[in-house]
Amino acid sequence: MPDCQFRKTHLDGHKLHPSTQMMSYGYDPFMSEGAVKPPVFLTSTFAFRNAEEGAEFFDVVAGRKPAPEGQGAGGLVYSRFNHPNLEIVEDRLALLDGAEAALVTSSGMSAISMVFLAMLRPGDVLLHFTPLYGGTETLIRKILPGFGIKSAAFSDGLSEEAMAAALKEAAAQGPVKMVYLETPANPTNAMIDFAAVKRIVDAHELAHGSRPVSVCDNTMLGPVYQQPIRHGIDLCVYSLTKYVGGHSDLVAGGITGSKELLKQVRLTRGAFGSQLDPHSSWMIARSMETLVLRMDKATASGRKVADWLASNPHIPAKVLHPEFDPDPAAQAVHERQCTGAGSTFSFVIDADRATTFKLLNALQLFKLAVSLGGTESLVCHPASTTHSGVPPEVRAETGVTEGLVRISIGLEHPDDLIADLDHAFRVAAG
Ligand SMILES: Cc1ncc(COP(=O)(O)O)c(C=O)c1O
Repeated sequence: MPDCQFRKTHLDGHKLHPSTQMMSYGYDPFMSEGAVKPPVFLTSTFAFRNAEEGAEFFDVVAGRKPAPEGQGAGGLVYSRFNHPNLEIVEDRLALLDGAEAALVTSSGMSAISMVFLAMLRPGDVLLHFTPLYGGTETLIRKILPGFGIKSAAFSDGLSEEAMAAALKEAAAQGPVKMVYLETPANPTNAMIDFAAVKRIVDAHELAHGSRPVSVCDNTMLGPVYQQPIRHGIDLCVYSLTKYVGGHSDLVAGGITGSKELLKQVRLTRGAFGSQLDPHSSWMIARSMETLVLRMDKATASGRKVADWLASNPHIPAKVLHPEFDPDPAAQAVHERQCTGAGSTFSFVIDADRATTFKLLNALQLFKLAVSLGGTESLVCHPASTTHSGVPPEVRAETGVTEGLVRISIGLEHPDDLIADLDHAFRVAAG
């Protein structure tokens, strides 16, 4: 989409807030009959004014030429490569994340897969935090080895020495091309120190002459409460299915970073055809208008629910919420790199699967479902669902036990959610 007044970031020197920009950024009504809201551009292909224009647009989309100044990602060609609804979401996501550019994909897993496929080759090594979202663990541990890509894991994201040692050990297997993070980690809310990651990557580059790309899954807090790129991380990946989509009615993914790093990822996305369709893109652009509002409200309710859980009168529960972490190092990292706690967190009861299931089955308002970040509150048992693909020893080591329950707080009144939990805890205790 060409540059226009709807790409404004300042007003007479006053910096606009992202919550304001989400109403209009990246969309010019006068390119669509003055329609205040973007239409859904249900078209598979775009007409060129003449053959020369077609040739020029293709040079850009195929990565042979940069987009002309003021032309965003270049002219519109074919909806597998770009389309207006996709570009509106990409512009807004990049803006929120403080990134040069963004790509939107058909799911969070396709975003992660596109980054791996674009940047890793047989023989390369990927160093990653563990546990990650279960689907990502499966991709790394079960699918990537078939492509000759090796991996190594670390589980302490607060100790620079431990991360440096893990990187050194990984380098013994072959060239380390990527350091992959997820923070706060799902479902333990473990923090990873971005500044320390940047330092170990810098040191590796000095020693080996090549720099692993750092990538962070920013689904849990981003892009509102955490922007890893501002802290020196190269790329962010997202499940936009979660807070950004925000209504549990679509599946989508996103990638943000520098134009240069995204060039190869863009080509890979176009080649594999894993872009997002116009209708889902339109729904995300609409959801972005209320993103800050939704996250702020859910976060405030989440804190109230976490308070109740920590002091509930029925079953002692350890609350894995960024603001309840007793470790001062984790608190310091959270304060340094996040501006909010979000509304997805876990609690752990000292119970077997049967007791935990009794509690889950007694809930009436919380819906028992995987996923997070929607308007409705969800509850899930990671050990038997989202993280069942994580090796049992990793689950045990990182605390993803049978008594761990993850909740995602939505927009219901927090007192009603507490009443639901109070009843379910009573049932489980009895
Ligand atoms: C942290 C995180 N990353 C990635 C994904 C995968 O996203 P999607 O389901 O949109 O493919 C999920 C899904 O639950 C997730 O929680």
